[in-house]
Amino acid sequence: MKHNIQVARILAAAAVLGLGLLIAAQASASTVSADTIAERLKPSGELCLQGMDCGGVVEAVAAGPQSAEDVYNGLCMSCHDTGAAGAPKRGDKDAWAPRLEQGMATLYDHSINGIRGMPAKGGNPKLSDEEVQSAVDYIVEASR
Ligand code: HEC
Repeated sequence: MKHNIQVARILAAAAVLGLGLLIAAQASASTVSADTIAERLKPSGELCLQGMDCGGVVEAVAAGPQSAEDVYNGLCMSCHDTGAAGAPKRGDKDAWAPRLEQGMATLYDHSINGIRGMPAKGGNPKLSDEEVQSAVDYIVEASR
């Protein structure tokens, strides 16, 4: 009888040990899978930093210089399509002829710094000189 109890205790201890090992194994297995997930996420995190394939960042990267057409349509057209404030209309060759005679350097200068009814940078100081100049080119190309 005493012998049987000891066998039972050993079995119980083995069962507890086995369960413990099983839990430990599962715990380490889930740790591994968490690491694996982190590892798998890492490359896309790096891609985001490089601005390649990640919504928000792509937007930030895309917000580089505006194209001439975007600058024109977003601002300049409000006066240069309508002739508001006496602005020479885009495409109006007669209106632009005397202005073109001043030379491009002067047109750039007047667009960036303003002249009479023409506000500096069309009224948006956030535009770079290059953006304004490309918009001037865009107007002039249609007005020669
Ligand atoms: C608020 C109205 C308004 C906006 C906006 C505007 N312009 Fe003008 N612009 C004028 C007026 C008015 C003139 C004529 C000024 C004059 O000669 O009296 C003019 C003249 C010009 C000239 C000729 C300057 C010269 O020396 O003959 C250029 C080039 C020009 N604008 C480019 C632009 C560009 C590029 C933008 C957009 C970034 C822009 N303008 C936005 C009103 C505007």
